[in-house]
Amino acid sequence: MTRDMSAPILELDRLGKTFSADGHSVAALSDVSIAFERGECHAIVGESGSGKTTLANLVLGLLGATSGEIRFNGKPLGRSRTRDQKRAIQLVQQNPLSALNPRRSVGASIRLPLDVHNLGKKSERNASVAALLEEVGLEAAHARRSPRGLSGGQRQRIAIARALACEPELLVLDEPTSALDVLVQARVLQLLQRLRQERGLTYLFITHDLAVVRAIADRVSVFQKGRLVETGPVEAIFSDPKSAYTRELIGAIPVVTEAEAALRAEIRAGTNVPAGAE
Ligand SMILES: Nc1ncnc2c1ncn2[C@@H]1O[C@H](COP(=O)(O)OP(=O)(O)OP(=O)(O)O)[C@@H](O)[C@H]1O
Ligand SMILES: [Mg+2]
Repeated sequence: MTRDMSAPILELDRLGKTFSADGHSVAALSDVSIAFERGECHAIVGESGSGKTTLANLVLGLLGATSGEIRFNGKPLGRSRTRDQKRAIQLVQQNPLSALNPRRSVGASIRLPLDVHNLGKKSERNASVAALLEEVGLEAAHARRSPRGLSGGQRQRIAIARALACEPELLVLDEPTSALDVLVQARVLQLLQRLRQERGLTYLFITHDLAVVRAIADRVSVFQKGRLVETGPVEAIFSDPKSAYTRELIGAIPVVTEAEAALRAEIRAGTNVPAGAE
C-alpha cells in the first residue's frame, strides 16, 4: 500500500462524545475537527474537564464516539481495530506507576507488547528490551528491576520505552510530565523531542501547562467545555490569541527567565541528556 506522507496522519471530523450519568447527559466533546500532521507535536490544552482525556480515549479506541469520525492514515477508525491499527497508536499516561504492573519486572513490562504483537523473533526480544532501555537513557540492567524501586523520571522513561516497543506511528501523551518536578520534566521533554525526531513520530500531547506547550509543541488546539476554541501553530496562537479564553491561559504562564529560555532551546533541539540520578 502506498501512503501519502504529506496527508494528515490523524483527522478528527466533527467528533462528539456525550456521556449519560444519573439521568442527565454531559457533552464531553462537541463538533471537534482537527488535522494532525505527520511528525508534528500537537498539543491539546484546556482546563480540567474540557474533554482532553475523552479525546485521547476516543483516539485510542477505549471509547466510541457519539458522532463524527476519526480517520487514521486516511481510513475510518472506530472502536474495533485491526492489530496493526492498535499497534500504531500507543499511550503514555501521567502516572507511570499505575500504568506499569508493580509485580512485573521492568523488562517484562517492556517485552509484553512485543509478545502481544508477535514482533521480532522470540530469542531476540530481550535484546530489543535492552536496546529500548538504552534508547530512553536507562541501562539494560534496569530490565531486572521492579518499577517500585525507581524514581518518577525513570518510571516515565520505562513507560515511554514500552509505548515505543511495538513501533507506533502516533503517541498519545496524557500529561506525561505533570507528576514530575521541573528539572526532571525538562529532561523527559528533551527525551521525547529527540525520540520524535529520530523515529519520525507524531505526538498528540495533552497538557494543562502552556509553558510545556511553548517548549515542545509545533501546533496547539485549545479546548473549553468540550469545544475547540482555537487551533494553529504555537507561535501564532501565543503571539496573537484569538479568544479571550486562550489569552487568559497565556496570561497565567510565568514570565520566561533567561535560564528557562536556554532550557527550552535545548528541549527544542532534542539534546540527548542521560537519565543520570533522576
Ligand atoms: N465515563 C464518564 N462518565 C460520565 N462523565 C464523564 C466520563 N468521563 C468524563 N466525563 C465528563 O466529561 C467531561 C470531560 O472530562 P475529561 O476527563 O475528558 O476532561 P479533561 O480535560 O481530561 O480534564 P483533566 O484536566 O481534569 O484531566 C467532564 O465533564 C467529565 O466529568
Ligand atoms: Mg484528563
